[in-house]
Amino acid sequence: MSTSIASSPFLAACRGERPAHTPVWFMRQAGRSLPEYLKVREGIPMLESCFRTDLVVEITMQPVRRYGVDAAIFFSDIVVPLKAIGVDLDIVAGTGPVVADPIRSAAQLDQLRDLEPDDVTAVTDAVEALVDELGGTPLIGFAGAPFTLASYLIEGGPSRDHRRTKELMYSDPDLWHALLDRIARLGGQFLRLQVEHGASAIQLFDSWAGALSLQDYRTYVQPHSATVLSAVADLNVPRIHFGVGTGELLGAMGEAGADVVGVDWRVPLDEAARRVGPERALQGNLDPTVLFGPTEVVHERAAQIVEAGRAARGHVFNLGHGVLPATDPDALARLVDYVHAYPVA
Ligand code: CP3
Repeated sequence: MSTSIASSPFLAACRGERPAHTPVWFMRQAGRSLPEYLKVREGIPMLESCFRTDLVVEITMQPVRRYGVDAAIFFSDIVVPLKAIGVDLDIVAGTGPVVADPIRSAAQLDQLRDLEPDDVTAVTDAVEALVDELGGTPLIGFAGAPFTLASYLIEGGPSRDHRRTKELMYSDPDLWHALLDRIARLGGQFLRLQVEHGASAIQLFDSWAGALSLQDYRTYVQPHSATVLSAVADLNVPRIHFGVGTGELLGAMGEAGADVVGVDWRVPLDEAARRVGPERALQGNLDPTVLFGPTEVVHERAAQIVEAGRAARGHVFNLGHGVLPATDPDALARLVDYVHAYPVA
C-alpha cells in the first residue's frame, strides 16, 4: 500500500487516529441516485455489469469524482461470488437477489464450491485498475455476511421475517452450520482476492442480522462471521462489520473480529461506543431519509453525529444504511462538504 493511502483520513480513522477532517463515504454511493450511473447501466442487467471490468471501474469512480468522498466502495453486489461459482440466481430490479433453486437440504450444499481466482478475473482486474485510478483514495472491498447470504439462498429471495431461514436454523442446526461454513469460506476467499489485488479495507455486510436476538446471533451466526473476518486478519487492512437494526448486537459484531463497527441510525454513536468498547472505531450513522428534509435539518443531525462520534475510538461518517435511489445527489454533495468543514475537536 502506498504511503499516501496509508495516511488517508479514512484509514487513519479506522485505526483509531484523529485525522484533520472526519472522513466520509456512503453505502450505495454508486448507484441509482446518480444520473451518470443510470446512463451507463442503460440496457445492461445488474449482474452482467458486475462482471464487466470497464463498467465496474466507471461506476465505482462516479461518486468519488462527484462528491470527493474519502473512500471508494467497489461496485458489485453481495451475490457476485455466488454467481461466480455457478449458483443460478439473478438480481431483479425493484426486488433484489432471486435464487432459482433455494437451498434447503444437505444434497444441495454441493452448489457452494470454493471460489477460484479464475472465477472472478473481471472483478480482480477492476480492483487493480481502480487502485491505479484512485491514487490516494482508498478502495473498500466487501462481501455479504453468512447470515444475510444464507437468507437469500434459503428463502429464494428477499424476506421480511426470514421465516424459512430461522426454521432451518432451529430445526436442523447441523445443516445450518454446514451451509454457513461454506458461505463463510466463500466470503473469506472473495475478500482475500480483493485485498490481494489492492483493496485497502473491507466491509462485511450483514444487513439482515438485526432480525436475530443476541442469543441466536451468538449461537448460529457470530462464529461464521468470525471465520470470514479472520480470513483477512493477516492482510493488515481495517475490517468493517455492518448490519441494520443491530443495536443489541453491536458488541458481538465487534467481537467477531471487526476493527470498525457500522451502526444504523437507531443508536446514537456515543451509546454505540459504550456498546463496542474502546478497542473499535465506529462508522455511521445518519438516517438516509434525513436527506429528504431541509438542509438545516441535515446539517443539525450531521453535527450531532460528528459530536457523538468523538466518544468512539475513531469515527468514519456514513449513512445508517444505503443511499435511497430517490436521494438528490446535491444533498449528498452538501453533506460531504459540511462534514469535511466541521471542526474535529
Ligand atoms: O455503492 C455501493 O455501496 C457498492 C455497491 C453495492 C451494491 N450492492 C450495488 C447494487 C453494495 C455494497 C451492495 C451490497 C448489497 N446487495 C447488500 C448489502 C448492503 C445493504 O444495502 O444492506 C444487499 C442486501 C444486497 C442485495 C441487493 N442487491 C438488493 C437488496 C438490491 C436492490 C434491489 C432493488 O432493485 O431495489 C440489489 C441490487 C443492487 N445492488 C443495485 C445496486 C446499485 C440496484 C441495481 C440497479 O441499478 O437496478
